[in-house]
Amino acid sequence: MYPLKRNRRLRSNESIRNLVQETVITPNDFLVPLFVVEGKNTKEEIASMPNYYRFSLDLLEKEVKELWQLGLKSVLLFVKVPENLKDNKGTEALNPNGLMQRAIKTVKNAVPDILVMTDVALDPYSAYGHDGIVENGEILNDASAEVLAKMALSHAQAGANFVAPSDMMDGRILTMRQTLENESFYNTGIMSYSAKYASAFYGPFRDALDSAPVDAKDIPKDKKTYQMDPSNRTEAIKETQMDIDEGADIVMIKPGLCYLDIVRDLKNAFQVPIAVYQVSGEYAMIKAAAEKGWLNHDAVVLEQTMAIKRAGADIIASYFAKDVVKLIS
Ligand code: PBG
Repeated sequence: MYPLKRNRRLRSNESIRNLVQETVITPNDFLVPLFVVEGKNTKEEIASMPNYYRFSLDLLEKEVKELWQLGLKSVLLFVKVPENLKDNKGTEALNPNGLMQRAIKTVKNAVPDILVMTDVALDPYSAYGHDGIVENGEILNDASAEVLAKMALSHAQAGANFVAPSDMMDGRILTMRQTLENESFYNTGIMSYSAKYASAFYGPFRDALDSAPVDAKDIPKDKKTYQMDPSNRTEAIKETQMDIDEGADIVMIKPGLCYLDIVRDLKNAFQVPIAVYQVSGEYAMIKAAAEKGWLNHDAVVLEQTMAIKRAGADIIASYFAKDVVKLIS
């Protein structure tokens, strides 16, 4: 008798395929990254991220209301800092009336129940485009962690639900957690970018925030002394273990598609929610190929989102969140 098992039976029509579908995407899976700029009635398209924008606070308010209507209930905020406010220490990052702090309040006022997460790293504030303080050609670890903890506190004071340190300094989760506890922010969550790779896929994001490392004497040209080497796998487990031990509530792997093996490793190893960031370069590649008519945009977006979730992501930070939610509704 041949064949005894016919796997195609379970694929023979859409109803049976839906019945046995293992991975399902819902609006609850998404964290929506949002870029904020100073100004009024400003919506600037990011050149290398077609159909993605930087919003001034008034339009940010409109955008988050729309997200909420679509069932997208969590956002991740990034700000584009005016050049004249940048320095080496991220002074502006601690300004209680800075753009990030105002953005947090704007979003919370517009949609009180939306979950607000904030990027914590110095690069948008750094005159040198680094995530920490630069001295003698080095990115200082402990001094940077101290500033980042103050920055996290400032975001919590402005009303952020979660802070999301994306800097990869050692020990920063503990420094941040202690600072938040000392100031009685017991309920402020930490989503740590714990396995963040030194990736070439961040290019469009650095365009969006004008935050690339500057080309100057004694300034490291890349972020390889703090972000991880793409060739490493066990190191991701070590990094993530440390962040969980130091008090992270959610851990993140970044970028997405090239690192789904890491996602599965961490999903199997740890009992905390796993977030994956499908980054700007991943977005740009799909947009560019679709523009040329070489790929079916919607189908590829759904397939990649599905792959990220199937690999083990509980949370997906994605510039495609709105597209996906519209496609699946
Ligand atoms: C910086 C930061 C980066 C991203 C998020 N936070 C870029 C970098 O590390 O240079 C990248 C996000 C993306 O590419 O979409 N702390």
